[in-house]
Amino acid sequence: MKAIILSGGKGTRLRPLTYTGAKQLVPVANKPILWYGIEAIVAAGITDIGIIISPETGDEVRTKTGDGDRFGANITYILQEKPAGLAHAVKVARPFLGDSPFVMYLGDNLIQSELGEFLNSFKEQHMDAMILLRPVPNPTSFGVAQVDDQGRVLHLVEKPKVPPSNLALVGIYFFANTIHAAIDRIQPSARGELEITDAIQDLINHQTHVEARQIEGWWLDTGKKDDLLEANQIILDTRLKSDIAGEVDEQSKTFGRVHIGTGSRLINCTVRGPVTIGNNCYLENCFIGPYSSIADQVTLIDIDLEHSVVLQGAKMTGIHQRIVDSVIGQRAQLRAAPQRPKALRFMIGDDSQIELT
Ligand code: DAU
Repeated sequence: MKAIILSGGKGTRLRPLTYTGAKQLVPVANKPILWYGIEAIVAAGITDIGIIISPETGDEVRTKTGDGDRFGANITYILQEKPAGLAHAVKVARPFLGDSPFVMYLGDNLIQSELGEFLNSFKEQHMDAMILLRPVPNPTSFGVAQVDDQGRVLHLVEKPKVPPSNLALVGIYFFANTIHAAIDRIQPSARGELEITDAIQDLINHQTHVEARQIEGWWLDTGKKDDLLEANQIILDTRLKSDIAGEVDEQSKTFGRVHIGTGSRLINCTVRGPVTIGNNCYLENCFIGPYSSIADQVTLIDIDLEHSVVLQGAKMTGIHQRIVDSVIGQRAQLRAAPQRPKALRFMIGDDSQIELT
């Protein structure tokens, strides 16, 4: 059994963060989203993993993630020249996959459930494909499945205007090698992509063995800012362990689960967990509230922040209002005058969003 993780694509919905980096490397609780997928696959006993990369962000993904040693896996990078669809990515991965059955994992998805049990029933029942489903309030944004009383899949459709059900396709799939012939038979969709949803529909049309399972627990597709904040909240809630390696002075207080990395210094700060602070940060006169993740080398002085994600190297000083529900990009700088400012001065990247509420 092998696995492929799709980490190509354009990441337009997370702009401006994804102008300078891959969306799959945006951190959730200070760890790239992609790495949770790798860990879940390795935990299910699969160590031969191919990662699909794009020409734009591939080098960054490869440099940051490495050859798999740190995960106990063997990672092969597979270049997809253009984001021509999820089924196109499988086509490009064909030489890596050979005739092996495989798990396909979308690099911006995270689920609470472990993969092991799904994998076992996929193997034991000799399926051609197994898909995972979950009810969602907005099915038009996903692939959608129609299933019968016994849970058999009748029909699949990608981002339908009129959804046949509220059951979305989760971005984790299990395939036998019969998927390759199905991909060879399909045509690009209206949006010009070779859709994996159409390839699975083709398998159904050919009366092969396709089953669906509904997943319990949370599922996060970190495509947009609010999804990213929600993913951050859930991971901090469920997985963060207290660990204070940095230096916390006598005036500072921490409550609840707080992680502070090595080389970080906190002076006269209050931190109310769950909060994770990376390595080599400097925080002075700050309140850091629940569900905040602060990456490495961040400087915060006179800042009141909660339910937010601050990326590497950002610097914020003297903002005398609470910052909430915010994502601050790498090396971004926010600074305010000590008095109520007479004017505001900005240098803001394309597609940035500022709300003075
Ligand atoms: O998240 C679940 C949804 O994922 C499913 O419900 C849909 O049926 C499925 O088509 C997919 O929809 P998205 O529109 O969310 O897919 P997206 O274009 O965001 O791509 C998902 C991941 O695959 C992302 O990490 C980028 C990567 N990708 C995407 C394309 C189109 C590639 O590596 N190559 C590609 O050609």
